[in-house]
Amino acid sequence: MQVNPGLEGVVVAETAISHIDGQQGHLIYRGYDAKQLATTSTFEKVVHLLWKGHFPDGEEEKQWLVKCRQSQTLSDEMIRLIQTIPERIDMLSTLRSVLVTMENPDWPPTWEQAIRVLVQVPIIIAARYRYLHHKPIVPPRDDLSFAANYLYMLRGDEASEAHVKGLEAYLILTAEHGFNASTFTSRVVTSTESDILSAVVAAIGALKGRIHGGAPSEVDDMLGEIGSIERAESWMREKLERGEKLMGFGHRVYKTTDPRAEALRTVVQEYAANEPWFDFAVQVEQIALQLLKEYKPHRSIYTNVEFYTAAVLKAIQLPAELYTPTFVVSRTAGWIAHILEQASHNRIIRPDSRYVGPKCAKITK
Ligand SMILES: CC(C)(COP(=O)(O)OP(=O)(O)OC[C@H]1O[C@@H](n2cnc3c(N)ncnc32)[C@H](O)[C@@H]1OP(=O)(O)O)[C@@H](O)C(=O)NCCC(=O)NCCS
Repeated sequence: MQVNPGLEGVVVAETAISHIDGQQGHLIYRGYDAKQLATTSTFEKVVHLLWKGHFPDGEEEKQWLVKCRQSQTLSDEMIRLIQTIPERIDMLSTLRSVLVTMENPDWPPTWEQAIRVLVQVPIIIAARYRYLHHKPIVPPRDDLSFAANYLYMLRGDEASEAHVKGLEAYLILTAEHGFNASTFTSRVVTSTESDILSAVVAAIGALKGRIHGGAPSEVDDMLGEIGSIERAESWMREKLERGEKLMGFGHRVYKTTDPRAEALRTVVQEYAANEPWFDFAVQVEQIALQLLKEYKPHRSIYTNVEFYTAAVLKAIQLPAELYTPTFVVSRTAGWIAHILEQASHNRIIRPDSRYVGPKCAKITK
């Protein structure tokens, strides 16, 4: 029996949702290039594509948008809960607690449940954020797009078109990414015929970790600690000498630059080309890539999406505490696509392990 640590190289299912070409650096959603979708489509249409396999057209698109907008609610019960959970509890744990009080969904998951979960996530995050910052909670509007509404609920007024476009590109590029740790978690939970909320809540727990969805805040911290370009090389050398990782670099699947990182860098350039912090981030990236070649010559470690996630979210003026929660906002779409696909031809996920402990230990009194 061969053991593959981290399930590397193990194919556990067939999927028609997305394809990653790790050698060439391509990401495809149902046949469409994700980078192109980021500049030509809307988040709502991409969600429809991921869930149903095609873009909505004409009447279908109208109905889809109406369903999405009508499913947005911020009940008094949710507000009470958002205000009662102790402030020391982090945003994603709060989100999990509030989500599970929404309803008791049963198996199998339905489109209606799927839409409700998707649209409630940004509402809960924005409400909690405003509560923690002693600002009045802002209910969702049904005349704004998904991306515009998220910014509106966070800020209390309408965001500029440029910020909405920047966020929308980010949401599209990070909505789906194959069998990553959190998506796989959502499929495992679904495979036991547990409900959609349990699967999403479990996925949030997996995404929260610092080497998965927690990475963009770590990138921000890293850039903050480096402080100036003169310190960059010595700071990163010290990390690598200690055997630590540089955040925002490396990927299990990509052995070249993550295409999402490239696309996000282009997006940031539009907003922040003249900002000193952007120039600094680009220079740090170049030094990091050289050092990673020097310290890990056989590993093909390149920039991943999280490095430029931190930059794009900073460019549209989101505070660092919202980086990982905003990743949850987008990735919920991908999780749900997989939850629906898993449920449509389900078999419980139950891998094997190789036992290496003793086989005949004696019980002594
Ligand atoms: C993404 C990640 C978890 C992939 O992990 P993985 O495929 O399991 O790779 P491993 O952690 O086993 O690393 C393999 C080798 O590359 C090195 N490596 C991987 N990413 C590295 C990084 N960011 N900085 C320095 N070294 C790194 C490891 O030290 C290891 O070296 P070794 O063989 O000499 O011990 C990993 O690259 C990482 O932790 N990156 C930093 C966190 C991050 O940016 N996460 C967001 C991912 S989108």
